[in-house]
This record gives sequence, structure tokens and C-alpha cells, in this order.
Amino acid sequence: MDETSFRNKRGIESEQQSKREFGKSELPLPSPNTILEVLTFPNKKLKQEAVLVENITDSTIHISNIMIDTLKAMGGIGLASTQVGWGERVILTNVSGNDPLIIINPSFEPFGKIKVDSKEGCLSLPGGMAVVSRHYEGTVKGIGLDEKEIEFYINDLEAAVIQHEIDHLNGVLFIDHLSKLKRDIVIKKVKKIKKRMEATR
Ligand code: NI
Repeated sequence: MDETSFRNKRGIESEQQSKREFGKSELPLPSPNTILEVLTFPNKKLKQEAVLVENITDSTIHISNIMIDTLKAMGGIGLASTQVGWGERVILTNVSGNDPLIIINPSFEPFGKIKVDSKEGCLSLPGGMAVVSRHYEGTVKGIGLDEKEIEFYINDLEAAVIQHEIDHLNGVLFIDHLSKLKRDIVIKKVKKIKKRMEATR
């Protein structure tokens, strides 16, 4: 599925309203030094579409910072707000492994039509992995926590991570790009791992 089709789906007034409520009310403000729980498949909240951030409020900043701590603690290379039950369009990427970059209202414009195989996992699908086709390169745009515009060229792994995280904001998981057969294999694996994780808890 491509980005354009997602964008075209948006814009219905009543739908926007309920999603805005999701954005504001779904997550109580955690205290500092908290690690947020990353929701895992098949949690229905992962299917919700996040709303555009119109004003960067204290809670946007607060949750974004806690998402950074969460991503570091989980050792991931990307995290989207919907994965922690927050309904504003915020993603983090940490391909370099240094300081995660926060992008509010992110968008990705691919260059050309080159697509590559991207082997992906996801914190919301523990133990699951599959090859997904992603645009090789493009421009990412968005806003930083300092309200400055972000725009830069990305390719390869970084481009794949951005596409994966923006998918999350549209309620799309990487398994949604797979054939039913491959999707079922990943889901079976995830269920098995989740069961094992719960047993050792
Ligand atoms: Ni993910």
C-alpha cells in the first residue's frame, strides 16, 4: 500500500473528531522516568489512525520524551505514537543508535519507483519478522519538538524505518503488506513468543 492512498482516506469531519479525542484522552500523562508499555498485536489500538498535531503542547513534548526513553529501553530503531496508545502523529527513529530523532506529523515522498526488500521486525510484533517491499529513497518532512521544520533525504534502512513508522500512524503493521499465507506464519510465531513471554513473567 502506498502513502497517497492513506492520505486520500483522511479528511472526514466526524471521523477526525473521534480520532482527535483518541489523541487527547487515550493516554494518561505518565510521570517522568516512566517506560511506556508498547502495545502488541492484536491490540485494536494499533489499528487506529493517529491525528495531525495542530499545536505542540506540553503533553506532546512530555510523551515524546518518554517515547525516547521507551525506545532506548526496548532497543528498537523506531517507534510510533500509536504503539504506546497515543493518538497524535509522532514518530521516533534511531537508526544511528545515538539520539533518537522525533518527527511530528511526518510524511515521506519517495524518489522514483525503486523498491527494495526490507527485512522488518516490530516491537508490536515480538519475534515476528518478514520481508516487505519499501521505497529505496525519498524525502522525509515533518516538524521537530522545537517547532522547526524538518526535511531531509533518506535512503535504505532509514527510509524503510520511516515508511514503517508512518504506516503505524495509519493503523498499518508490516504484516498488512504480506500475503495471507506469510502474514499467518508471522502471526503464529508472534502468538507463540507472546505466550512464552507471559509464562516467564
Ligand atoms: Ni513497528
